[in-house]
Amino acid sequence: MDPVQNANVLLCITGGIAAFKSVSLLRLLVKAGARVRVVMTEAATHFVAPMTFEALSGSPVCKDLFHSGGAGGESHIALTEWAGIIVVAPATADTLAKAALGLAPDLLGCLLLAARCPVVMAPAMHTAMYLHPATGANLETLESRGVHLVPVGEGDLATGHGPGRMAEPEEILEAVRGVLSPRDFEGVRLLVTAGPTREPIDPVRHLTNRSSGKMGYAVARAARDRGAQVILVSGPVSLPPPPGVVVERVMTAREMHDAVHARYEEIDVAIMAAAVADYAPRDVSSSKLKKSSTPLTLALDPTPDILASLGRRRLDAGSERPFLVGFAMETEALEARARDKLERKGCDLIVANDISVPGVGFESDTNRVAILSAGGGIERLPLMSKYEVAARLLDLVAAGLGIEGGRGRDARR
Ligand code: CTP
Repeated sequence: MDPVQNANVLLCITGGIAAFKSVSLLRLLVKAGARVRVVMTEAATHFVAPMTFEALSGSPVCKDLFHSGGAGGESHIALTEWAGIIVVAPATADTLAKAALGLAPDLLGCLLLAARCPVVMAPAMHTAMYLHPATGANLETLESRGVHLVPVGEGDLATGHGPGRMAEPEEILEAVRGVLSPRDFEGVRLLVTAGPTREPIDPVRHLTNRSSGKMGYAVARAARDRGAQVILVSGPVSLPPPPGVVVERVMTAREMHDAVHARYEEIDVAIMAAAVADYAPRDVSSSKLKKSSTPLTLALDPTPDILASLGRRRLDAGSERPFLVGFAMETEALEARARDKLERKGCDLIVANDISVPGVGFESDTNRVAILSAGGGIERLPLMSKYEVAARLLDLVAAGLGIEGGRGRDARR
């Protein structure tokens, strides 16, 4: 399950121009299934009206130390007891300084002092303020006390250009997920392949497929969040590299094959989510092919089957590692074909997706899959986000590896 789902998130907004991005953050949290209560400082209300957050969270915004909640009021202690995680975004220089000193002049200050749950802060301020040694020292103090800081971005600010910009809402959501995830993959080395491969025809043309890489990247992020050391062998995609993951970029099936086998000895799990081209042009022209009026026939040779070659290598070594997970893309007879693929390629698990169903497969953010295991088991999952599919898959990998069902910080109170 997505660790954000059903989590009690106290979203605290302080007075910076980046407060407008907290609207998107709130929407993302709600979409992921979190229960969110919003706290605003007096200054924050000058940037975005509380009404916006009330409408999106479905609860009154807490602003006042003495009337923290809605109609009847709610003490700051009750709020901290409710919270599974506190997210301060944006966290201004002033907020960071007060938190580092332990000052409690307002509701937010009291919440931060009383909190026993994890705290995530996303700093946002002008570059000069961010680079000031006082801010640096405050950030260090907070980090040493276990506050999870979401690194600032670099770019256009309200005035000027440089570091200090608040991380994007998606990055803050990722940080929250990371904090709330169980750490059951700590010490596990996991390799994921993702995206399409690109098989060149000439310097300007290639054969490829519609894979976006989203499924493999979601597996990499979910495994990282659970403490795994992740190597992501990625074909050409337009997704940003997930922070905290080693990314190796490859182009062709042959390059992907070689990159995966070079890591073979060091990995415990291999999850092959890439849509590898099955054929590559036999001859790659070094100059651009010119058009003519006669038909053109391309001779194609099969590419190496990376997953099958891992299965054979493991069999030859008489070993149980690495644990092997394949994906099967089918348009008909999904489960029968997936089981056949699992057996042929020597996998432990195979994730079957029927790409003829809307909302499933390539470019989409959601997937509906069935996960088949070598022992004959099958788990059919409903339509869910690719991150949730990845989380469920990792539960089955953990069971296969005999990893203790680690429990994360339970944010559901
Ligand atoms: N795979 C691989 N190397 C290849 C082709 C596929 O490692 N050259 C892996 C994929 O990453 C996936 C699994 O094999 O985990 C199944 O891929 P899929 O495209 O569904 O199957 P194919 O073996 O290509 O068979 P077909 O295209 O006939 O369905």
